[in-house]
Amino acid sequence: MNNKLLTTTLFVSIAACSLTANANDTKTVNPEADRQAMIKHMMDMHGGNKINGKPIALDDFGMGALIFSDDAYQQWKSVEEFPPYVEHIDEGEKLWNKPFANGKTYSTCAGLDGDVKKIKAKYPYFDDARGEVIILDQAINECRVANGEKPYAYAGKDKALSNLLTYLANESRGNKIDVKISSPGALEAYKMGEMVFHTRRGQLNQSCAGCHVTSAGRKIRSEIISPMLGHVTHFPVYRASKGNIVTLQQRYQGCMRSVRAMPFPSNSKELKALEFYEAYMSNGLTLNGPTYRK
Ligand code: HEC
Repeated sequence: MNNKLLTTTLFVSIAACSLTANANDTKTVNPEADRQAMIKHMMDMHGGNKINGKPIALDDFGMGALIFSDDAYQQWKSVEEFPPYVEHIDEGEKLWNKPFANGKTYSTCAGLDGDVKKIKAKYPYFDDARGEVIILDQAINECRVANGEKPYAYAGKDKALSNLLTYLANESRGNKIDVKISSPGALEAYKMGEMVFHTRRGQLNQSCAGCHVTSAGRKIRSEIISPMLGHVTHFPVYRASKGNIVTLQQRYQGCMRSVRAMPFPSNSKELKALEFYEAYMSNGLTLNGPTYRK
């Protein structure tokens, strides 16, 4: 066997080992232990910070990088008095209530039905029958298609979709994140998300973890890096620098581009797994979106 072939074979078998399910992995991967370890790490590193004069509690991680700078926090608070995302909530609400051509509305679709204040907290979840993570963006589009409407472009490229997500986030404020991993399929999705989070990529060869775990609280150019804990609580976000709403999937892609990597496509199994992993790690935190960021 020549060297190149050997390397390729080795690489393929290592990759295959880390991607396929087997009984041993199921025993050794323990999401709950991972989550507790992440919380401990974050509290040990940052629990001494103060926000509004008080030491930070776990729920404060939903404030992102603001937990590192009282100045930035006070500025944020004054912007939130007249939040720039209000018109997006209103637009989203109109779209939510507007009947499709067939006369039905989103609330007739399974998963989008019932109390509108409880919808966002159901996502992301692992659907065992379909064998995939379902995110809210996707559920909205699937409801449209089921009712004979065209799906929106993903990752908030279509403003209608990001407005709908902004409206549902606002309705869901105060709910707790509660992502469940109760099947081998869900565990596989978690592991894929964890891998996406820890893999170095791009010309800058950086992983999400390298910035949002190891370097959380440090400055990169003029920005302070947020902790991964709490990433999912407050999206979509109105970004002043973009003058628009940015969805979580879009933000993931933006961070991939910032290390000069090709981002995974919107609604791909990798980005959905990443959202599932990050959401699981933030279990117990309060949903507090939408919000404002620079
Ligand atoms: C080179 C460092 C770096 C890497 C690598 C990186 N990010 Fe970021 N990320 C940033 C910076 C800087 C910001 C803007 C400041 C902040 O964290 O809010 C940011 C913002 C974010 C936000 C928004 C936080 C908020 O509160 O608005 C999320 C979510 C995020 N990153 C997720 C990721 C994920 C997932 C990956 C891996 C695919 C990743 N990032 C890779 C530096 C990085």
